[in-house]
Amino acid sequence: MRVWHVDPIQPSQHDIDEAARLLKKGGIVAFPTETVYGLGANALMESAVQDVFRLKGRPADNPLIVHIAHPDMLGLAASGKDWLCHPVKRAIDAFWPGPLTIIVPANEAIAPSVRPGLLTVGVRCPDHPVARALIQSAGCPVAAPSANVSGRPSPTRAADVLDDFGNRLAGLVDGGPCMYGIESTVAAISVEQAVIYRPGHITREQLEAVTGVPAIQYEAEQGQPVASPGLKYRHYAPEAAVEVWWGDKDAVDRQMASAARDACARPGAKVGVVLEEPRPWAKEFGLDVWVPEGDGVYAERLARELYHLLRSMDKANITHIIVEGIAPHGIGAGVMNRLARSAEGRVFHAQ
Ligand code: TXA
Ligand code: MG
Repeated sequence: MRVWHVDPIQPSQHDIDEAARLLKKGGIVAFPTETVYGLGANALMESAVQDVFRLKGRPADNPLIVHIAHPDMLGLAASGKDWLCHPVKRAIDAFWPGPLTIIVPANEAIAPSVRPGLLTVGVRCPDHPVARALIQSAGCPVAAPSANVSGRPSPTRAADVLDDFGNRLAGLVDGGPCMYGIESTVAAISVEQAVIYRPGHITREQLEAVTGVPAIQYEAEQGQPVASPGLKYRHYAPEAAVEVWWGDKDAVDRQMASAARDACARPGAKVGVVLEEPRPWAKEFGLDVWVPEGDGVYAERLARELYHLLRSMDKANITHIIVEGIAPHGIGAGVMNRLARSAEGRVFHAQ
């Protein structure tokens, strides 16, 4: 397996071209995007796409996102132009390159496994110089799910990709840590509305402001097939049991402390907490304390570091993880969606 360490802003063209050649001829190459690392395959090559599903252990009915280097490449992934209405155009102008995946009618050239049984395909133009240079050099649309083994937290570092796949890939472009940390917002946009299949870094509020149509969060109806199959699987989950508290600051503090005390009392428990800032009780109970660092407000820091923290806690043999959550609005909607799935629903509103 080839590994290229590249500068995230000005990657070496020589390295990019080498990785792109491998990708184009059917090799599986992991690469950084602004959200998480992707496991890239030539989206026009069915055998390569099948390799991605096999490597990830991904259920065959869960479609992949197709990545393009520039909005000009849309025609390689989408079919026709009927869907290119004003709200879609405005979204593309405002958010591309960036963490918005738009569901469009699929071009027949896209390998069938990318969009199992669907007439549509999810397309996005990532806002990362390495991803864009790689796709540009390969000259083909690139199908890329997050570069984790199915069910595990997504990778936001090259080392996370190596942890999941070892040397089983054709290549890995290491462009350092990812900027945003949670995956793109997935939406279908029409003249009437935007349906959000997966909340992400682009918020519902931003989508509405830009497209001028109402944005609604998709909810699977009982007995109906799931429109975005990724939603139905356990995901983003570490080995440890996770629970999440959010709401009024003092209430969260009190109830997290009490949850931590209960967790500590269980035989063999090793309890870790993710907090906005260190708290006296966490020290008093001797817990492993993780405070997401870096720029931005807590919601942004948590988004960026969450997956890596969950992975680090597994490595530290933590058995119970208690996370200080955030209100599920704005970017909080995406973060809490991922946390709810890591926690298998154990999300509590403290009041
Ligand atoms: O930020 C991201 O989107 C990352 C980076 C690598 O680009 N990719 C990513 O891909 O998260 P993945 O495969 O882990 O998630 C794809 C999501 C799934 O929830 C899937 O169900 C949904 O997008 N999806 C893909 N195509 C779809 C379609 N045609 N209709 C509805 N949902 C679709
Ligand atoms: Mg994923």
